[in-house]
Amino acid sequence: MSSNHVTAGLTSELERKIEARKAHVGIIGMGYVGLPLALLFSEQGISVTGFDVDQRKVETLTSGGSYIVRIPPGEVQQARARGFSATADYSHITDMDAVIICVPTPLNEYREPDLSFITSTANSIAPYLRAGQLIVLESTTYPGTTEEVVIPILEKNNRSGLKAARDGGEDAGVFYIAFSPEREDPGRTDIARHDIPKVVGGLDKRASELASALYGCIFRRTVKVSSLAAAEMTKLLENIYRCVNIALVNELKLLCLRMGIDLWEVIEAAKTKPFGYQAFYPGPGLGGHCIPIDPYYLSWKAKQFDFQTKFIELAGEVNSAMPYHVVTAVARALNQHKKALNGSKVLVLGVAYKKDIDDLRESPALTIIELLQEEGAEVSYNDPYFASVGHGRHYNLNMNCAPLDNLGAYDCVLIITDHSDYDYRRIVSEAKLVVDTRNATKGIVAKNVVHC
Ligand SMILES: NC(=O)c1ccc[n+]([C@@H]2O[C@H](COP(=O)([O-])OP(=O)(O)OC[C@H]3O[C@@H](n4cnc5c(N)ncnc54)[C@H](O)[C@@H]3O)[C@@H](O)[C@H]2O)c1
Repeated sequence: MSSNHVTAGLTSELERKIEARKAHVGIIGMGYVGLPLALLFSEQGISVTGFDVDQRKVETLTSGGSYIVRIPPGEVQQARARGFSATADYSHITDMDAVIICVPTPLNEYREPDLSFITSTANSIAPYLRAGQLIVLESTTYPGTTEEVVIPILEKNNRSGLKAARDGGEDAGVFYIAFSPEREDPGRTDIARHDIPKVVGGLDKRASELASALYGCIFRRTVKVSSLAAAEMTKLLENIYRCVNIALVNELKLLCLRMGIDLWEVIEAAKTKPFGYQAFYPGPGLGGHCIPIDPYYLSWKAKQFDFQTKFIELAGEVNSAMPYHVVTAVARALNQHKKALNGSKVLVLGVAYKKDIDDLRESPALTIIELLQEEGAEVSYNDPYFASVGHGRHYNLNMNCAPLDNLGAYDCVLIITDHSDYDYRRIVSEAKLVVDTRNATKGIVAKNVVHC
């Protein structure tokens, strides 16, 4: 048998396993992306093992619990009954047919890509790779990461001299590698996860086909692109598009406030155009793990090509100024009531980065609270999703959630996140002053409401 036959045999073995739903999938990183993905595979009867370095997460999952509000423990328990398990032990990688990497890709203190989670994962799994496995990176990152960073580590550190499969390769000792961006929108309920098409790009055609077949088990449609870099770039295009358009409406909001025009009304009207317009909404600043971060992955990489990504930089400038705009608006609103920000009691409503979710990452509320405190305000917060806010990479607040029962005691109630749980009519009727960054008080006509 020629080595080509051996390679083909390995491919078809994996294909057969995927087709028969007998492939064992390992997912690395049991966070907001990895855990729901694991549950999706499990729902389709596919054996899944979750890997995480966070022992507390492993223990919670092992005992049938959940640490993500929108995933009820019952779902984890059902998956457990179907064979889902979690571990911090990478030696089990050898037992997997496919390994999907969903680890964080933050920015470092200089706002440059921090690939340490990806490189540490690659270093950890490399010794346990075996021929014929499919490795897929899902973490959002700049084009070139899979080929320039992940593959060299996997090739160098595996114990069997395995190489990533490239078209025309004659070596049987290969693993297959692909990139497939995650497209989840936390909190969105109008589209089922399996209805969101899944983009895949492999290092070679077989890797693309295998990744497409694997994801085809859980998504109705997969979209194959020609390379790893094209798949990596697809995710960045989607997020940069969002970031730039949010910056556009944020800038227009500042103008409209000055002109006395209600931009929210304008957006609703513009939305009625059946083509050529997609609505984006202004807010107190960008939040979440994606939009404030991902564009900088590309602007950093662009420098290697002596290229300046001006749209990304400008959008970043406009969006990152929004928390400062909010603080100025609060100071002005208090001034109208003959009060200074210094010494005023301000209640921030909502600290999650968007409505109805339990995710605090990069939330503009954190920056706004810190800025208000710097100006001498006495700040409290309320958020049904967070009993307390401690400290993270960029903040150190150590606050507990304040009750909503004595709103009249605050000089200003500042709406940062428009959670559905809030009764905005009651809030407006009980508070002395409400500053609304989200148009949450839409339709409520009251003198004590200031839009910003
Ligand atoms: N959250 C989203 O809505 C979203 C959407 C699209 C894309 N993404 C991208 O998906 C990736 C993961 O994001 P997330 O929101 O799930 O992050 P997360 O922080 O919620 O989860 C990441 C998990 O990886 C674990 N981890 C870190 N290093 C590890 C290692 N070496 N081995 C095993 N586990 C490790 C962490 O303990 C954590 O549980 C990021 O690149 C992000 O940009 C996220």
